[in-house]
Amino acid sequence: MTAATTPVAYRVADRRQETADTVTLTLAPAARVLAPFRPGQFAMLYAFGVGEVPVSVSGISGDRLHHTVRAVGKVSEALCRAEPGNWVGVRGPYGTAWPSPPAEGDVLVVAGGIGLAPLRPVIDEALARPAGSGRLSVLAGYREPADQLFPADLPVWRRRAQVLVTVDRPGPGWPGPVGLVTELLDAADCRTDRCTAFLCGPEPMMRATAGELLRRGVPAGRIAVSLERNMRCGTGWCGHCQLGPLLLCRDGPVVGWARADEPLSVPER
Ligand SMILES: Cc1cc2nc3c(=O)[nH]c(=O)nc-3n(C[C@H](O)[C@H](O)[C@H](O)COP(=O)(O)OP(=O)(O)OC[C@H]3O[C@@H](n4cnc5c(N)ncnc54)[C@H](O)[C@@H]3O)c2cc1C
Ligand code: FES
Repeated sequence: MTAATTPVAYRVADRRQETADTVTLTLAPAARVLAPFRPGQFAMLYAFGVGEVPVSVSGISGDRLHHTVRAVGKVSEALCRAEPGNWVGVRGPYGTAWPSPPAEGDVLVVAGGIGLAPLRPVIDEALARPAGSGRLSVLAGYREPADQLFPADLPVWRRRAQVLVTVDRPGPGWPGPVGLVTELLDAADCRTDRCTAFLCGPEPMMRATAGELLRRGVPAGRIAVSLERNMRCGTGWCGHCQLGPLLLCRDGPVVGWARADEPLSVPER
């Protein structure tokens, strides 16, 4: 087992098309196995001959890694094209992990778009808690219904958790809410005095959600966010991922709200 600073070859063991532009890859080690990843951490994924990008783990099964990638540019597109049997270079694990869901207390997950991917292992951990530990609410916002992630997981989650989805552009036949994900907070099945919140998505969405939770009495110490900046080394060396006093590959991507609030007002360089 090793923590690699050069990519290690992993084989694509499975590929699941989540939406038109988003794919979940299951990666299995070929020979060398990376050190165990924790929920919230990320890998640098190398599409051979194309380039390398940071991608969070969206699931961990033994030494297999699940990564959910949205195709937005040349590297993420190449990763999304990978088929079972293809090879991907992987280095990591990098960065900070989500706090564990509390042994007793409610868990609130708020995601925007692809932001649900890094939060999926938190949902798995919260669902694995013994019955009676606390409630789990998952609030997700998408541009349109076809963007909804993890259609295969949703029925499983809904058996033990509240899952609410809102969209910006409903289209015909959409039965659910329309609007910002913050507008779902009133319906969330969690008690602010015993709730731990996990947020990931566009920064304006995280700022608005954290502000609303603070207003409702959730302490900053029980709000965690996952942040993104451009990354190169992943190891705290190159400075590309600086956000105020934070190097997000080292001090993030998961940061408590108390540390994230002020630097988030600094524009990306
Ligand atoms: C810690 C961390 C974890 C991440 N986890 C995930 C993940 O789980 N799944 C995932 O799909 N992505 C994730 N990302 C984002 C991912 O790294 C970028 O989408 C990727 O670097 C884009 O590279 P590219 O070469 O494909 O596109 P580029 O050529 O770099 O960019 C193409 C276009 O997409 C835009 N773009 C770049 N990044 C993003 C973005 N994040 N969102 C929207 N537009 C963007 C660029 O501005 C540009 O216009 C994560 C990023 C970080 C820092
Ligand atoms: S990516 Fe190089 S310091 Fe963070």
